[in-house]
Amino acid sequence: MKRFLLIVSVLLAASCAPAEQTLKTVFEGKFILGAAVNQAQILGTDSRGDSVLVRHFSAIEPENCLKSAEIMPVFGQYDWTLADRYVDFGEKNGLAVYGHCLIWHSQCTPDFCYDKDGKLISPELLKERMKQHITTVVTRYKGRIKGWDVVNEAILEDGSYRQSPFWEILGEDFIPWAFQCAQEADPSCELYYNDYSMHEPKKLDTVIEMVKKLQEQGIRIDAVGFQGHVGMDYPNLNLYERHIRRVKEETGLDVCITELDMSILPSVTQSADIGGVSFFEAMRNPETREAFLEKVDPYRGNYPEEVFTAWNTRMSAFLDMFLRNADVIRRINLWGVCDSDSWKNGWPIPGRKDAPLWVDRDYELKPFLNTYLHE
Ligand code: GLA
Repeated sequence: MKRFLLIVSVLLAASCAPAEQTLKTVFEGKFILGAAVNQAQILGTDSRGDSVLVRHFSAIEPENCLKSAEIMPVFGQYDWTLADRYVDFGEKNGLAVYGHCLIWHSQCTPDFCYDKDGKLISPELLKERMKQHITTVVTRYKGRIKGWDVVNEAILEDGSYRQSPFWEILGEDFIPWAFQCAQEADPSCELYYNDYSMHEPKKLDTVIEMVKKLQEQGIRIDAVGFQGHVGMDYPNLNLYERHIRRVKEETGLDVCITELDMSILPSVTQSADIGGVSFFEAMRNPETREAFLEKVDPYRGNYPEEVFTAWNTRMSAFLDMFLRNADVIRRINLWGVCDSDSWKNGWPIPGRKDAPLWVDRDYELKPFLNTYLHE
C-alpha cells in the first residue's frame, strides 16, 4: 500500500509540474523567434545545434544557401541541392521557413550584371534577368517560403544609394522592379527590404523615402528588416527604438529584427585607423599585428566575468526594448544558432572567438534568458 501511494504521489507531482519553458513559447504572441541555419544544421550533421534550434526557435533563415551566387553560380544555371534541403529541413521540423535574399550586390552570381566581356549589361537585359531569377526562385518555393528579403543593403549610412552594379544600370528603379517581380511570383508571400546600421538617421530617412515611393506606386512591401549586427558600444538603444517606431509611424510597416548578433569583442571596422596605421597594414605587418590583436582580441576566448555580465545586461536591454515594441516587431531572427556558428568569429578579424548569440558553445542558453523563461 505504502508503495502504491508513493507511486501515485510521484505520478501526481509529475503531472502537476509546470511544463518546461522554451524561448519560442515564452515569446509566442509577441514575435516569431528565428535563427539562421548553416549547411551542417540543414544536413543534420550538427545534431546538438539542431536540437537546440528546434526546441527554442520557431523559424529559420538560410545563412547562405539561397543567395544568388550560391544557388546560381553562373547566370541561369541553378543548383538547388542545399536550398531544397533547407526548405525540407524547416518543414520536417515544424519551423516557419524564410528566404534570404533575392537581390544583393554581395555573394551575387558573378555574371548577373555583366556580359561576356565583363561590361555592365543594358537596363532592359538586367530587368529581364532580375525577373527571370526572382520568378524562378520564388516560384520554386511558392507557398513554402513565408517571406523573402527581396532587396538587401541598397542604401548607405549617409543616405545615398549604394553604387552597386544593379544601381549603376537601373538607378533606384531596381528596387521597385525587384519587389514587383517577387509579388507577381508569389502574391501571398511577405516581402521585405533588409539593411544594416538602421540607427543611422540619414540611412533611415532614405529607407523610409524608398518605402513610401513603393507604396505610392502600389507595389507591396510588408516589413523593413533591421539587421541586428550590433556591438557593446553601438547603437544607442533609445535611438534604435525611435527608429523602429519611425518606420511604423511614417510608413505603417512592421519591422523585423533580422541577423541579430552582438559582438562581445571590441568593435573594429576595416576602415579603422589604428594609431596612424590602417586596419590592413596593422594586420599585414608582423610588428604591428601582435599589438593590434592585443587591442582588438584582448580575451582570446576567455572573457572576464564582468565582460560576460555586461554583454548579458546589454542583450537583455535590447530584448526588453523589443518586447516594449512587440506591436511593431514581427520577427526576431538570430544570425546563427550558437556562438561557434557565428560569422563574427572570422570577421573583420580572422580567428577571434566571439560570443554574439543567445546560445553558447556548449549549446546552453545565455544566463540573461533565465529571467524570461522563469517569469
Ligand atoms: C549581411 C548579409 C548576411 C550575411 C552577413 C554576414 O548582413 O545580409 O547574409 O552575409 O552580412 O554574415
